[in-house]
Amino acid sequence: VYQIPRGTRDITPEEMQKRRYVEEVMRSTFNTFGYREIQTPTFETLELFTAKSGETIVEELYSFTDKGGRELALRPELTAPVIRFYVDKLQMEPKPLKLFYFGNCYRYDRPQKGRYREFKQAGCEIIGTDTSEAYAELIAMAYNILKKVGLKNLELNIGELNILSSIFKRFNLSKDQQKYLTPLIDKSLFEDVFVALKDFGIKNEDANALTEILQTSDIKKIENFIKDGDAAKKELTELKKIIDLLEKSLGIKNYKIKMSIVRGLDYYKGLVFEIEAPSLGAEKQLCGGGAYELIRLFGGKETPTAGFAIGFDRTILALESEGFKFPTYRLDVFVIPVNDDMIKKSLEITQNLRNQGVSADLDLLRRGISKSLKYASSINAKKAIIVGPKELEQDKVTIRDMNTGKQEMVKIKDITQIVK
Ligand code: HAM
Repeated sequence: VYQIPRGTRDITPEEMQKRRYVEEVMRSTFNTFGYREIQTPTFETLELFTAKSGETIVEELYSFTDKGGRELALRPELTAPVIRFYVDKLQMEPKPLKLFYFGNCYRYDRPQKGRYREFKQAGCEIIGTDTSEAYAELIAMAYNILKKVGLKNLELNIGELNILSSIFKRFNLSKDQQKYLTPLIDKSLFEDVFVALKDFGIKNEDANALTEILQTSDIKKIENFIKDGDAAKKELTELKKIIDLLEKSLGIKNYKIKMSIVRGLDYYKGLVFEIEAPSLGAEKQLCGGGAYELIRLFGGKETPTAGFAIGFDRTILALESEGFKFPTYRLDVFVIPVNDDMIKKSLEITQNLRNQGVSADLDLLRRGISKSLKYASSINAKKAIIVGPKELEQDKVTIRDMNTGKQEMVKIKDITQIVK
């Protein structure tokens, strides 16, 4: 027997129903914010991702050489592809350009629950604006999408990379030292950060202040820390505007300022945010995003860009762990010919129903009433139609309600009206 590749999954009809439901809610929420859907290829030139996505992403790339000798990679994410698309064909579009997408992504990662080598993202990019209202709306949309799909328990964290680097600068940390600290900060290993700072020769008092500022969610403390002449003063003012709009105009009060958000991709600049589902445990990050710079690197005319991506598979896992009741799809009618002579008429009735937009199936195994009824109940059909010779003489069939077991004879011409 063949085995499924590590880190990939087969999706059953039941799971697929859940996924379609979630996708539709997400899609319509993107639409309500004025975003329009696009699609890009599953693979791209390798260079697109090695250019600026960052070391961890590059290490995890699925790359290959095609028969024409081209170096290609399965996409690990869609921001770089969307910006490639923009620079190539969409630069003349009116601004801001609001785009969203669904797509499978590929990362050669160590698989575990919520972490796969093939996974799906729902994401968006806004191109051509960096106003505080654009950023506030972006964060609100991410939060609203996850709320709309039915999640109750969410944690929204907002950070600012320019403020973070200005804090680093204050302590004269070199690029290498910052690089060493970043993964520790990302994993919230603040004791290790403290030890590292001491190793770098930073005074006890300063190391304390720095580790504290990384952990505070009190914007006042950050304000006190950022002195007047500081380069990050402007960013702090902008951040305050964004959270003010989020709270007062967009109704999102449930957020935390978190200076320790560093994000795993190298292209971010400025605002960053993440949304977590605490119910998920280890792989609890549902959404990540922020402002970033890629356009000039890809040869386009510089304009601000921001976006986010939601882990689609983790969203489903989070809903399941919260005990969310997904709407279930049910077949409207299962048609049962009582003997072989009834097959022709049964097929005709089934097809008529389908033409009227009713979902209908019929017994294709010639297995008689009781076995067919059992099957109809196992596939959760709403109604069964039993087609027998005596009823047919009067142009009638028997309709059985599969929930109650109640049966009634009805005229064939009335079936659609009754089952609808
Ligand atoms: P990211 O944080 O790398 O950001 O991925 C976004 C989300 O995809 C994560 O929060 C997580 O839910 C999900 N995800 C990532 N890796 C896996 C995996 N191995 N298995 C399952 N789910 C996973 C980006 O990809 C950026 N392009 C987001 C963005 C858009 N920034 C600006 N615009």
